[in-house]
Amino acid sequence: MSWMKTTVSSLITLYVSVPVLLFVFPWIVEHIIFAHLLTFPFFVDLSRPEDLLNNTYNFYLSTEEDISVGVWHTLPASQWEQAVGKSPEWYQRTLGDGSPVIIYLHGNGGNRAMKHRVELMKIMSAADYHVLSLDYRGFGDSTGEPSEAGLTTDALYLYQWVKQQSRDSFVCLWGHSLGSGVATNVAVKLQEQGSAPDAVILQGAFTNMEETIFNHPITKLYLFLPGFESLMWNILGRNNVVFANDENVKTLTSPFLILHAEDDNIIPYHMGLQLYKTLLQTQEKHSTEAPVEMISYRAELGFSHNRIYLDPNLSNVVKGFLRKLRLHH
Ligand SMILES: *[C@@H]1O[C@H](CO)[C@@H](O)[C@H](O)[C@H]1NC(C)=O
Ligand SMILES: *[C@@H]1O[C@H](CO)[C@@H](O)[C@H](O)[C@H]1NC(C)=O
Repeated sequence: MSWMKTTVSSLITLYVSVPVLLFVFPWIVEHIIFAHLLTFPFFVDLSRPEDLLNNTYNFYLSTEEDISVGVWHTLPASQWEQAVGKSPEWYQRTLGDGSPVIIYLHGNGGNRAMKHRVELMKIMSAADYHVLSLDYRGFGDSTGEPSEAGLTTDALYLYQWVKQQSRDSFVCLWGHSLGSGVATNVAVKLQEQGSAPDAVILQGAFTNMEETIFNHPITKLYLFLPGFESLMWNILGRNNVVFANDENVKTLTSPFLILHAEDDNIIPYHMGLQLYKTLLQTQEKHSTEAPVEMISYRAELGFSHNRIYLDPNLSNVVKGFLRKLRLHH
């Protein structure tokens, strides 16, 4: 039975080493929140989106001094034929053609070439929307180091850059997972400047970063260890990463669409539901007519955290939502 002893003692060592590592290297937590160093998919040249997506143009924006951020612009499908061989300026001008523009803000791991992100871009392009998908600073081929303020600055810059070209077209922020925190931070800043975003779509969104970490299945394995909880609070306080969606939605009066799967294994369903309920209260408090909707996906569908793009009705849901905005505009 000596193999069993070895296995058991390795497992115990592994279990105990996590809090010790966190104590000695608290920056590990930040590297989990911003998992930008996981550069998957590995063998993709981000400057060649044509390997994964048709009619997509890759470009870089300088969102701040010394920060360059990689962006993909995928055209509405109806424009694909015209796009062959066109210049960067031509792509930029199409943003003002009247088709809605979606700014896609991705989650915490990997880059803009990940499969579930690319699939969503294909669906939105087929629905005849422009999609702009960026890698925040430190992610993909973008320069710099991630931070909450930095990610928010990058996304805000892209939104304002798009608005300069898009004239009267709708520009919608779409935040998935960590991107939901970026989306509401940007929306708060825009609203403070008197130009609230036309619409916000949140997919697999959390209430705030602390609750997300304490709800994580791995954290739960440790919470009963004496001192672990205060260690985590200490690290979180020092890292200064908040992403307070729950506070942000108390003031935001833009139209909102919440998408959440009941079997989401990373961000529990109740968090999306809580944001939805708060948004309804905000809507009532400010007596706005802006639509606030939530679509829940039954657990049997197995969409979990990343696979809502598998819903065959997704583009109808988004179209229905954006059509209502036009009526309120
Ligand atoms: C591009 O479009 C063509 C024709 O519709 C299709 O066959 C091809 O698979 C698409 N390429 C990618 C990378 O999606
Ligand atoms: C698809 O979405 C539309 C718009 O939200 C909705 O009216 C319709 O009932 C949905 N269809 C299915 C099959 O879920």
